[in-house]
Amino acid sequence: MANTYAVIGDPIDHSLSPNIHNAAFRQLGLDHTYIAYRIPVGELSAGIGALKKIKISGFNVTIPHKIEMMKFLDEMDTTCKVIGAVNTVLNEDGKLKGYNTDMIGFLDPIKKRNLTIKDSQVMLLGAGGAARAIVTAMVKEKAHKITIVNRTLENANKLAEFAKKIGGNVDVVSLQEANELISEHKFIINSTSIGMKDEPSPISTDSINENSIIYDIVYQPMNTDLIKKSKEMGATVIYGYEMLLSQAACSFEIWHKTEAPYDVMKKALLGGV
Ligand SMILES: NC(=O)c1ccc[n+]([C@@H]2O[C@H](COP(=O)([O-])OP(=O)(O)OC[C@H]3O[C@@H](n4cnc5c(N)ncnc54)[C@H](OP(=O)(O)O)[C@@H]3O)[C@@H](O)[C@H]2O)c1
Repeated sequence: MANTYAVIGDPIDHSLSPNIHNAAFRQLGLDHTYIAYRIPVGELSAGIGALKKIKISGFNVTIPHKIEMMKFLDEMDTTCKVIGAVNTVLNEDGKLKGYNTDMIGFLDPIKKRNLTIKDSQVMLLGAGGAARAIVTAMVKEKAHKITIVNRTLENANKLAEFAKKIGGNVDVVSLQEANELISEHKFIINSTSIGMKDEPSPISTDSINENSIIYDIVYQPMNTDLIKKSKEMGATVIYGYEMLLSQAACSFEIWHKTEAPYDVMKKALLGGV
């Protein structure tokens, strides 16, 4: 059967998800289509109505709808409930079931490298939507402490409240203070959007060393300034595209109940790198 899938958000025209999923369909000989569908803020209800009308089989949700979409779900899985945001929806006979694959997508590249989060010190830059999934992941994996660093302190404090509620040990520091604390942290994660426009690294990379693990979830460009400088300092680096692919593979498996062709999806994203 030919089914339709989508990613909804705004802006959406540069989304890489259609390339990734359509390449997977071709590889597996599935007669499905995955489209990008722009739904502006304030038009989510009408947009969801339109998707239901065309009997959409499933869709991904991105900025700015990840939280508001929760209102339109008939059911949600535990991860989606805990994080309080949805990025994957399955349509089963008109009933919408929500999932959040960002957490698994985030953890997967760490697990593939056999790196241990348990009892480690984590510095998290950013306190937006993606940071919520990361905090949930770090608490689940029993990090010793999460230091949250963000431009707007109020957002950092809100995220810290959330982290405490789910059992995390957290601290909030300013960007300036963070630079003094870098060598104390095993994991440094950038979940701000700094880097997307080739900006300089959000933190000083001077005290990053071969024991540091630097994870930049920005995926375009692949080699952000933070990644480039961290590599020069001998750190282990984890790229944003790895999270993007893992969360896409996880969505794929929710919809199609079959293993996602990861390597084909990766080739579609990186062009054979
Ligand atoms: N690899 C993946 O699979 C994946 C998944 C999700 C997101 N992402 C990427 O992660 C980034 C954040 O996504 P999001 O959904 O969390 O976005 P968001 O909810 O809009 O949060 C943006 C975060 O970046 C900070 N920020 C933005 N501009 C800044 C600046 N000029 N200086 C300092 N801080 C700044 C914001 O700080 P304030 O609180 O001060 O505004 C906030 O903490 C984006 O680049 C997105 O593409 C990647």
